[in-house]
Amino acid sequence: MTNTGYGLLKGKKGIIFGALDERSIAWRIALACKREGADFVLSNAPIALRLGALNALSEETGAKIIPCDVSSDDEVQELMNQTREELGSVDFILHAIGMSPNIRKKKEYNDLNYNWFSQTLDISAISLHRILNHAEKANMLNDGGSVVALSYIGAQRIFSKYSDMNDAKALLESIARNYGSRLADRGIRVNTVSQAPTKTSAGTGIKGFDGMYTFADKIAPMGNPTADECADYCVTLFSDLTRKVTMQNLYHDGGFVTSGISEEMIDALLKLYADEE
Ligand SMILES: NC(=O)c1ccc[n+]([C@@H]2O[C@H](COP(=O)([O-])OP(=O)(O)OC[C@H]3O[C@@H](n4cnc5c(N)ncnc54)[C@H](O)[C@@H]3O)[C@@H](O)[C@H]2O)c1
Repeated sequence: MTNTGYGLLKGKKGIIFGALDERSIAWRIALACKREGADFVLSNAPIALRLGALNALSEETGAKIIPCDVSSDDEVQELMNQTREELGSVDFILHAIGMSPNIRKKKEYNDLNYNWFSQTLDISAISLHRILNHAEKANMLNDGGSVVALSYIGAQRIFSKYSDMNDAKALLESIARNYGSRLADRGIRVNTVSQAPTKTSAGTGIKGFDGMYTFADKIAPMGNPTADECADYCVTLFSDLTRKVTMQNLYHDGGFVTSGISEEMIDALLKLYADEE
């Protein structure tokens, strides 16, 4: 980490979902939130906690780990209860959760297993609704708070290898807008951050990920942002400096979304297809 922080989250409390290992975007966000003065709890699915890596982050940040499978109403409700005991109500929530059994089991988009498709949507998108619903009912989210969920440009454009996760991200972004409109009168922001391909466990689990990573990196004028850079951006969204930014899908992609092609790609493609000219 290059800076010692600006105290942007001093006095703020939060819930961080989705840190699995030190490459996880949520892991980097947790470190950045700590650096900026926040207190938070860490949560992940019980099965992910069995790997034990999260204990190191818990020790480093002083954050309690609360197990929760976000596809279970009971577990999300219980997580809110335990968070209240640990911290009281919170100012920010990070949703950094994604999982597709179809991608894991290499099912093509036109041959999806529908039970797995439902699981993809439930875990990766509907869980944002479930978390906000239980947070609201338990009065766990403070006025002026901020919720960020991590998305990907597959919500808008077709990335064939991203399969049913393209649909999950479209739903996730829609839920952020719809819930954001309902929480706006309390000054609570709900946004998605559309991050460029990043070398994490979920990312590299996608067949063809290296190609997608390199393509984005070569097209984006600034290249792909790292997970630590994503973390710094999320800190600004949790801070009081972005109080009226809500119901947005915010691209954090080095300029990829508005770029057509780069000089480097033109030169590379000309070489590759030279024989066909
Ligand atoms: N890596 C990328 O290229 C990239 C790009 C854009 C967006 N994202 C998004 O960033 C977020 C974080 O992913 P990551 O790349 O850091 O990978 P990651 O594998 O580190 O994180 C995914 C997390 O989801 C958790 N999870 C899965 N099922 C769960 C369940 N039932 N209950 C609770 N948690 C569950 C996993 O345990 C894991 O911690 C995801 O939403 C992902 O889609 C990733």
